[in-house]
Amino acid sequence: MKLIAKTYEGLEPVLQKELEELGANNILAGKRAVTYDGDKELLYRSNLHLRTAIKILVHIEHFEAKNEDQLYNKAKDFDWFQYLNLSQTFSIETSVNSEIFRHSKYVAYRVKDAIADKFTDKKGRRPNVNTYNPDVKFNIKIFNDQVEISLDSSGDSLHMRGYKVEGLTAPLSEVLAAGILLNSNFQEFTDFLDPMCGSGTLVTEALMINTSTAPNIFRERFGFMSWRDFEYSLWERLKTEAKEKTTKPTISFKGMDIDRKAVFASKKNLSMLPHGDMVNIENGDFFKYNKCPEHRFLMFNPPYDLRIQTDEIINFYMEIGNKLKKEFVPATAWIFSANLEALKHVGLKHTAKVKLMNAKLPAELRKYDVY
Ligand SMILES: C[S@@+](CC[C@H](N)C(=O)[O-])C[C@H]1O[C@@H](n2cnc3c(N)ncnc32)[C@H](O)[C@@H]1O
Repeated sequence: MKLIAKTYEGLEPVLQKELEELGANNILAGKRAVTYDGDKELLYRSNLHLRTAIKILVHIEHFEAKNEDQLYNKAKDFDWFQYLNLSQTFSIETSVNSEIFRHSKYVAYRVKDAIADKFTDKKGRRPNVNTYNPDVKFNIKIFNDQVEISLDSSGDSLHMRGYKVEGLTAPLSEVLAAGILLNSNFQEFTDFLDPMCGSGTLVTEALMINTSTAPNIFRERFGFMSWRDFEYSLWERLKTEAKEKTTKPTISFKGMDIDRKAVFASKKNLSMLPHGDMVNIENGDFFKYNKCPEHRFLMFNPPYDLRIQTDEIINFYMEIGNKLKKEFVPATAWIFSANLEALKHVGLKHTAKVKLMNAKLPAELRKYDVY
């Protein structure tokens, strides 16, 4: 099978590496996606183990369509019965980049008609559409006149790991947090501090990486579970194997936040994880923190405050730099932010930089070696 792991822009190389470690073949990184070959076992393992994938698609059909009628006719020719039956519901997700097809909703509508008409012609009835919780989710990608049809094996986005019970207003996506961490060198240290941890996404994902905990081991639903060929025993075996591979933490983890609600959220989320109780979450102001010499590694996701480029946010980033220079020597600090202007004011020379996106915002992850 040709499989497609989708990700956020900038995380393709990390996802490619994850797939190599998972034993995938013919891996090819593209834009926001990495394609590879695999069987059903690798499909399940991808959903369970890939930290930087948003979803895993299974490619099932490819054709050329020069106009809407061709799209409808070729879609109707396709053997949908292999993947869908009358008792199942379905939905269609589209991504369209084409001069011919300009409206993704219209594409979804035409393909839905093609499926419905095919069923009605052959079986006298058609399966129902359910956009919220479908049994089978088809993904249609059109680039110019090239139409690709895939099955979405994940269902909901894989950033929904199943451990987050308490969120805040602007938490990082778990997939992005994992990507940030896998771009960093945190595993070379014996301590990890997130001084502005919010709901604890970075510290939680770091703990999971360090303990080899499969990111989606706590998630209960995946798209492939309502497919006709779902192999419960295979899935259970893979989960058991994954659980057996988890280890104890080799790093001491700490998160801190000035906001009590954030501290509460972090603690609650961590309580869902094995060894989550070993992570120390404190309420405090980073600028007043006095146990700095205990820490050699810091990972920041400071506030962005992008609505207004005030002096206040510039000063905030300057103060982070000052505190690092004065009290964390030597240390390695990484800062991830979508406020690129404020990042310029940290006042330390960065030694590495990774360009990423945070939702639709260009963002950067910068490394600072403080001597
Ligand atoms: C962008 S959010 C972090 C989001 C977090 N990565 C998550 O996934 O939930 C920035 C956090 O910095 C915290 N913060 C702001 N000033 C702080 C300070 N002086 N000391 C500690 N935390 C601070 C805020 O309360 C907020 O939770």
